[in-house]
Amino acid sequence: MGSKAKLTNFIDSVVSICESKISRKGKIQFTDLFAGSGKVSEHYKNRFAVTANDIEFYSFVALKNILENDSSVAKSVQGNLDFMNRCLGKIGFITESYSPAGNRLYFTEENARIIDEAVSYVYEMKSLHLLSEKQFYYLLGCILEAVDRVSNTTGQYCTYLKHVTPQAAKRIRFEHIALGELQNRCNSVLSLDAADAIGVVRGDILYLDPPYTFNYSNRYHLLNTILKNDKPEIHGVSGRRSDFNKCGWSSKKKAPELLGDILDKADFKFIVMSYSNDSIMSAECVADLFASRGKYSRYVQQHQRYKSRTDRDQAPAVVTEYLHVLQK
Ligand SMILES: C[S@@+](CC[C@H](N)C(=O)[O-])C[C@H]1O[C@@H](n2cnc3c(N)ncnc32)[C@H](O)[C@@H]1O
Repeated sequence: MGSKAKLTNFIDSVVSICESKISRKGKIQFTDLFAGSGKVSEHYKNRFAVTANDIEFYSFVALKNILENDSSVAKSVQGNLDFMNRCLGKIGFITESYSPAGNRLYFTEENARIIDEAVSYVYEMKSLHLLSEKQFYYLLGCILEAVDRVSNTTGQYCTYLKHVTPQAAKRIRFEHIALGELQNRCNSVLSLDAADAIGVVRGDILYLDPPYTFNYSNRYHLLNTILKNDKPEIHGVSGRRSDFNKCGWSSKKKAPELLGDILDKADFKFIVMSYSNDSIMSAECVADLFASRGKYSRYVQQHQRYKSRTDRDQAPAVVTEYLHVLQK
């Protein structure tokens, strides 16, 4: 949710204006502080030196692949993928907590067992130094995509469906992930709270795409739990991790404070922020925060709204997407 895949042209039209005003010999340094699926970082991964950050571990795994891996790693782990696809599965934390064996129906029991075995295999190979860091994150990336194809959910993990869908009933298969060409070795990935990350990054263009209303840690907790292999304390019908990330960005009071703090600390020439009229802070509130810190401009585009199954009928079909720009 919240992916900017369909808005990259709009974002690029504004980022290009900033780029044209920066004089630098080497590559422009671009930071994507709330990188999520990595679609924006991916767009710039060969053009700029990109640093991508996101607090969620599943996002970190996706970003490590998008920004630091290329297709050459795929061949080197073919044997590992074959092994994972042949395994019969074994009972572990995912089976005991998120399949019918644990009274939840996120996965069939067969798939949950295979996930348990595949993840513990990848971690064991890593601990035996039989996988490089690139191979490790590549295999976790393959697991992330495979899990998402067979989860018995609407695509979010706050709850599971009552009956197993045909897609979820299929045996899980670990397939290669699509990695484009990587022509640059200057990219890097962080997994920090944005409030901390802003203290360790600097550069030319800072792109902000904070949560508009909701908490990602709630909606995708299970992806973190699978990929971390850490058997956390969980609770409730959804089996959410007790240590999920609390999200100030979905609070009317805290969001402006968090944004103001990032704008103050940002050591960047330009700050470009995506935000819609469907969000916690109004466009005027964001404009005030930006304009009080430097030269401010705003760009607007109408965009088809993401609709989940539950709000399909009531929610407006179109949202206004803003790009707020600050030249410090
Ligand atoms: C609107 S989404 C970003 C979407 C992204 N631009 C894309 O194209 O996929 C917001 C992201 O912020 C992340 N996030 C939420 N709170 C955060 C925090 N305090 N620090 C860093 N990242 C955070 C979420 O995990 C989520 O991926």
